[in-house]
Amino acid sequence: MEKRKKWSSSVLFIMACVGSAVGLGNIWKFPYITFENGGGAFVLIYLFAIFMVGLPILLAEMLIGREAEANAYDSVKKLAGKVKSWRIIGALALFSSFAILSFYSVVAGWTLDYFFNAVTGNLAHLTFESTGPHFGAFVANPLKQVGYHTVFMSLTAFIILRGTKGIEKAIEILMPILGVLILLVAGVAISKYGSAQTLDFLFTVDFSKVTGHGILEAFGHAFFTLSIGLGAMIVYGSYFPREHSLGKAAIWIGILDTVFALMACLMIYPIIFGSGMNVKESSSILFTTLSVELQQLPGGQYICALFYLLVAFAALSSTISLLEPIASFAEEHWKISRKKATLVSAFSIWFLGLASALSNGASDLFTSLKVMDRLDYLTSNWTLPVGAFLVALFCGWWLSDEIKTRELGLKKNDTLYFMWNFLIRIVSPLILLIVFIYKLLQ
Ligand code: PFF
Repeated sequence: MEKRKKWSSSVLFIMACVGSAVGLGNIWKFPYITFENGGGAFVLIYLFAIFMVGLPILLAEMLIGREAEANAYDSVKKLAGKVKSWRIIGALALFSSFAILSFYSVVAGWTLDYFFNAVTGNLAHLTFESTGPHFGAFVANPLKQVGYHTVFMSLTAFIILRGTKGIEKAIEILMPILGVLILLVAGVAISKYGSAQTLDFLFTVDFSKVTGHGILEAFGHAFFTLSIGLGAMIVYGSYFPREHSLGKAAIWIGILDTVFALMACLMIYPIIFGSGMNVKESSSILFTTLSVELQQLPGGQYICALFYLLVAFAALSSTISLLEPIASFAEEHWKISRKKATLVSAFSIWFLGLASALSNGASDLFTSLKVMDRLDYLTSNWTLPVGAFLVALFCGWWLSDEIKTRELGLKKNDTLYFMWNFLIRIVSPLILLIVFIYKLLQ
């Protein structure tokens, strides 16, 4: 059998996973849902969700991949033996990555337009009044929507064509630049507006501000941001050489993903608080009010351009991790070449993405069907958490202690192993069940 290609180093593996984890979820979604849910207490619940539920499942996914050395579908199939019903995990994973990438690429494309327009000074004329209508007209322009979606899917496919080598090359360039850019933009925002109010907002815990809905949102977002529940981490884990520690990698991924999310708040909140911005429409703030405010900073035009470039980079390192599970499935399952697998997968996702691209005003039919919103809701609220729930059960109750301890480099009676197994067998599934029941009752 041909030997599986592996990451060149543990650091590159961690960087690729952090690249997958850090994306629009961190820069666009986390700041606004934290804002809507009142700050400190929400952040605390989110941290609990990441470290007590998300990380154990992340570790489970990477372990499954490394043990089986295959794409998500075939990994689960291989480890499940004769029990066919577990294959639902793989099928669900394929569905989720397909659906998420189809609309994620559209939003990622928006960052390209904002980047180009910022560089050429075309955003300079925007005011607080005109920025909303400008954004509205942009997302309703079919040519631009399809065009940028096409560019983003092509960039993603170009990287995935070369498999792990392609991902490593992209990640080596994208991640350090992303780190520097986020520090730079946060530094400029803080030096103009100060950070006291932001820190106060993020770290003053007041539980009276949290609602049941907020708690659910914190859990749902924890899965989305860690890229778990859809097989991306199973595939990335399958390329991880056996001599490195999975546990350490998972902890690094959890910490760095959280640091990037908090840094995004440190970049965006000082501007919101300092300028007294009206944040009623907080979900589209990244493309509306913020674009006007960024221009007011020292070196505004360029800081604004850098900002959108940063978001584009973060999104690209995530889209590659959404295409890889599908391309690797097509390649390994149907035994076709990587090139064919990538092109077929990317084309089909691009095609489905057209419905999302045209669903914000460009086409009456797709707009009335709310394709993008519905796909986002379906995946973030249902298919990802259900996928994560099944992975927890599969790894917790089906996989043998022998496999798990070997993969984790622990012994059966180690406290750490006991704790992780307990989290994945009992705590995570139970919390997820409560989440599902609550959602159904709503
Ligand atoms: N984690 C990414 C983000 O926060 O933007 C989104 C994502 C990427 C989800 C890859 C799932 C995935 F497999």
